[in-house]
Amino acid sequence: MLHETVKTLLNEQVNKEFYSAYLYLDFANYYAGAGLDGFAHWYEVQAQEERDHAMMMRRYLLDNGCPVTSEAIAKPDKTYADNMAPLAAGYEHEQYVTSLINAIYAAAFAAKDFKTMQFLDWFVKEQGEEEKNAEDLIKKMKLFGSDAKGLYMLDKELAARVYTPSTTGPAM
Ligand code: FEO
Repeated sequence: MLHETVKTLLNEQVNKEFYSAYLYLDFANYYAGAGLDGFAHWYEVQAQEERDHAMMMRRYLLDNGCPVTSEAIAKPDKTYADNMAPLAAGYEHEQYVTSLINAIYAAAFAAKDFKTMQFLDWFVKEQGEEEKNAEDLIKKMKLFGSDAKGLYMLDKELAARVYTPSTTGPAM
């Protein structure tokens, strides 16, 4: 059985990962409406990854004898003024998620819950990658996005993203 705080935070994180998936679908909806199908695809893949994160945490809780509660998933409340706005919101969101993962890690450390710390190691690494990806997208958009041809090429590049279910993450 896991420590009460760790269990509660992990349970909340399941919901937050599903929210992340929902938020990224909202980004994809925006880009699809703007005719940028590559950007939309990139965020659809991202949404799938977020769902995977939620499922990994759900499985971890269940495997440790903890009941999982399914709370309401919040409505994405963002409005997007331009094509850069979702990218900026995505970077900000990933930084927030990193702070949440760190808080669970800190709770596990305080509880001497080394098993959960080991489980979370994958997420710590993943957050580093996701923040970098989000930052890279902003950099590319700044460099190429103001020119129609550059934007077209960037959209093509993002269309090539392939969803690969995590095989190196914690057991699903
Ligand atoms: Fe599941 Fe993007 O963090």
